[in-house]
Amino acid sequence: MNRLAGKTALITGAARGIGLAFAKAYVAEGARVAIADIDIDRARASAAGIGEAAIAVRMDVTDQASIEAAVAETAAAFGQIDILINNAAIFTAAPIVEITREDYDRVFQINVAGSLFTLQAVARHMIDKGIKGRIINMASQAGRRGESLVAVYCASKAAIISLTQSAGLNLIRHGINVNAIAPGVVDGEHWDGVDAFFAKYEGKAPGQKKREVGEAVPYGRMGSAQDLTGMAIFLASSEADYIVAQTYNVDGGNWMS
Ligand SMILES: NC(=O)c1ccc[n+]([C@@H]2O[C@H](COP(=O)([O-])OP(=O)(O)OC[C@H]3O[C@@H](n4cnc5c(N)ncnc54)[C@H](O)[C@@H]3O)[C@@H](O)[C@H]2O)c1
Repeated sequence: MNRLAGKTALITGAARGIGLAFAKAYVAEGARVAIADIDIDRARASAAGIGEAAIAVRMDVTDQASIEAAVAETAAAFGQIDILINNAAIFTAAPIVEITREDYDRVFQINVAGSLFTLQAVARHMIDKGIKGRIINMASQAGRRGESLVAVYCASKAAIISLTQSAGLNLIRHGINVNAIAPGVVDGEHWDGVDAFFAKYEGKAPGQKKREVGEAVPYGRMGSAQDLTGMAIFLASSEADYIVAQTYNVDGGNWMS
């Protein structure tokens, strides 16, 4: 189909995982995409795998100059940016008494400040050019309620839900729709890391936590990155014009709100 024909998208953290699945799905819908990632080698390989409609852009969302350079590079390559997916994030876990300030700062710099200031830079570009753009933030079921070992990551994703509301309300006057997707448990390299944290803190065998969370999903299995692409396409399409400041759960029934 061609629901995003002629559109251009900047997707952060798209060298792998969910962001890469979004990039492929957008290209299949007729868009051109910038795969922006701190891991530029992998971003280049991923862009090459997609073909001409994808470019790789070096971007560290914790660095303001890097954010501005990535936005400028994408705008120069494509003429303009119609869609941003704020997807780059990292996970961390620790019991409350073991959380370090360094870990907190790192997670909030990437997950929260990175998303806010990337959103700001792209919104400025869209406003300057009169683009009625779309911004999609990646929240999480982790942002819907705290978890015993996951305080910092959960708080960072709750902040994304809140920022989506404020930015959505503020930017719709410019015709820019800001919404978010809250996935549940999505299999991939990210969750390999999550599994390792639970192996450490709950004494589980490698792979055990993954099995448990998959079995607990009402749908009956973990999600895949492909399970999320329909929502990402919909929110970027003209069919979502009247949707503002919302966070949608795409999680096989894990959370209801
Ligand atoms: N996988 C899940 O189960 C799950 C569940 C809920 C929400 N999410 C969210 O979905 C999004 C994508 O998750 P994923 O599973 O694909 O993660 P992932 O770890 O596989 O990919 C994250 C990407 O972000 C990049 N990145 C990290 N730091 C960066 C920085 N400073 N600047 C630019 N890029 C940076 C990494 O290089 C990597 O390519 C994240 O926001 C995540 O929190 C994931």
